[in-house]
Amino acid sequence: MYKSGKERFEKAGIDIYFPSKIEIEEDNNKIVVFRKALMCDVKSLYNLFSEYSKAGEMLPRSMIDIYVHLRDYYIAEIETDGEKEDKGYELVGACALSIVWENLAEIRSLAVKKPYTRKKIGTELIRKCLIEANFFKISKVFALTYKPQFFIANGFKIIEKSELPHKIWSDCINCVKFPDCDETAVTIEL
Ligand SMILES: CC(C)(COP(=O)(O)OP(=O)(O)OC[C@H]1O[C@@H](n2cnc3c(N)ncnc32)[C@H](O)[C@@H]1OP(=O)(O)O)[C@@H](O)C(=O)NCCC(=O)NCCS
Repeated sequence: MYKSGKERFEKAGIDIYFPSKIEIEEDNNKIVVFRKALMCDVKSLYNLFSEYSKAGEMLPRSMIDIYVHLRDYYIAEIETDGEKEDKGYELVGACALSIVWENLAEIRSLAVKKPYTRKKIGTELIRKCLIEANFFKISKVFALTYKPQFFIANGFKIIEKSELPHKIWSDCINCVKFPDCDETAVTIEL
């Protein structure tokens, strides 16, 4: 007999569909909230990725790609300054976990907005993705990245791209760089 989704989450003691928070001490103790992405985040996600892809720091993501994969995303948001009625939230980071196979998932589309980099927002986004991978009993998570040092700081190791199974390359056919992939492959065993 299957347990309900709610029961399974409670039993696993995890909160992947509920927010977590970190505090940025050096920025007036601003609180960054992490949660699953919603439809209202799509344009901000597109703008965040466009900015970095224009700078050549990540691959571009189309609106259709973001919509199709929306349920894969975690986002980080921060309350903006202003009087009560002007207060709002700004999307400052995002990361997606895409399941590839029974025991394999990919971290995609990781980005943290300037000036919020180097405040452990990327680290918390990865942590949420790895918790979710673990929940699905996925034993290996990989990423193709221009920032291997960030992933190494988060427990990943560099591998040869040829060590990744062929099935992951089906997605790459649509990549602007195909077949000359210049990213580094990193992986972590859970
Ligand atoms: C890469 C990126 C997501 C990192 O996010 P972040 O929130 O700044 O990272 P964190 O603060 O969690 O960093 C944790 C550790 O990772 C390492 N790290 C982070 N960014 C790094 C970088 N640019 N170069 C080398 N190491 C880095 C450091 O060891 C860092 O710890 P420290 O700040 O105490 O030295 C962010 O810089 C970014 O969005 N860059 C542009 C887009 C991009 O490159 N995306 C990745 C494509 S796969």
